[in-house]
Amino acid sequence: MKEVKIESQLIVFDNFNELPKDVVSLMEKAIEARRNAYAPYSNFLVGAAILLDNGEIVTGNNQENASYPSGLCAERTAIYYAGSQFPKAKILKMALTAGSQKEPTTTPIPPCGACRQAIAEYEVKQDTPIEIYFMGETGKIVKSASLANLLPLGFDRSFL
Ligand code: THU
Repeated sequence: MKEVKIESQLIVFDNFNELPKDVVSLMEKAIEARRNAYAPYSNFLVGAAILLDNGEIVTGNNQENASYPSGLCAERTAIYYAGSQFPKAKILKMALTAGSQKEPTTTPIPPCGACRQAIAEYEVKQDTPIEIYFMGETGKIVKSASLANLLPLGFDRSFL
């Protein structure tokens, strides 16, 4: 037997000033989207903005439902819209921001497991990495150079 170690590498930016310009404007779109989230049950608002290789920016936010599991996260709302409207475009970057209405969210909020799986599908489909940037409402911004980096040992089409 042998032990296998899996490592992930992330980049942490202290604030907006350290981010590339295009990522600042993408994150601004995610913040705008976050403000329109429909989250009356959790009061936790999430916004996502996706930059495509055709220059389009697609946004989404979480949409909750009185039947809780029927709601959808911001990341999947956005990525399924991108996949449905621009099926041939590659996803270059995703910016994510989350904030609770109960207290300020100052720590970076990563995408949930189900959203990682959904994003992974498109990364495998397009065969190029999707950069993910995530933050709270304020504070540090974390970058993952690819989705695979956030979901080691992922399940994908190669197993089917
Ligand atoms: N949520 C997202 O939109 N994205 C995530 O990655 C984590 C959770 C939403 C789902 C629900 O509306 C609220 O945040 C609280 O879980």
